[in-house]
Amino acid sequence: MEIYKEGKFLGNPLNIVYYPDKILTTKAQAITSFNSELKELAQNMLCTMYQAPGIGLAAPQINLLQRIFVLDVDFTREEKEDETWSYTDLNPQVFINPIITKKEGSSVYEEGCLSIPGVYEKVKRAEKIKLEYQNLQGEKQELEASGLLSTCIQHELDHLDGVLFIDYLSPLKRNFHLKKYLKRMKK
Ligand code: CO
Repeated sequence: MEIYKEGKFLGNPLNIVYYPDKILTTKAQAITSFNSELKELAQNMLCTMYQAPGIGLAAPQINLLQRIFVLDVDFTREEKEDETWSYTDLNPQVFINPIITKKEGSSVYEEGCLSIPGVYEKVKRAEKIKLEYQNLQGEKQELEASGLLSTCIQHELDHLDGVLFIDYLSPLKRNFHLKKYLKRMKK
């Protein structure tokens, strides 16, 4: 899918939903139509993610309860002299109706979320996963992932089930971050 041409993204950026919006804790529904609208949605989600910037974005974060997320753990972003950004090594990926079929080992990464800006904390997840999903054509795909890609997929898939990375923190850490976060968001 073409998403970036002559230094510009082809999609339209969407509004990101912030915690504690209820949609972020609601389960998303399976996608059944693989049409041009879905392609457009994926393009818009990618464009939103890159410009935020973030490495993953799930549909509930743009106020849509559908089982789709996008990610890119490979790109780099550099500020140009005219204060716009240039993007290189784009590797956009789209996952529809994803299911984790195997989990192995564990690893810890510091995570953040576009819907909870400014909060970063270490989360323990499976090191390796096996994933089944559909692409934009509705074709069944299989993927084995480890490292950052594995963590990112698990984080985004959680969004489709209404689960946030802060849900894995101890009550003490969670409250510590959320108190500061909610104070910041009020301003
Ligand atoms: Co997130």
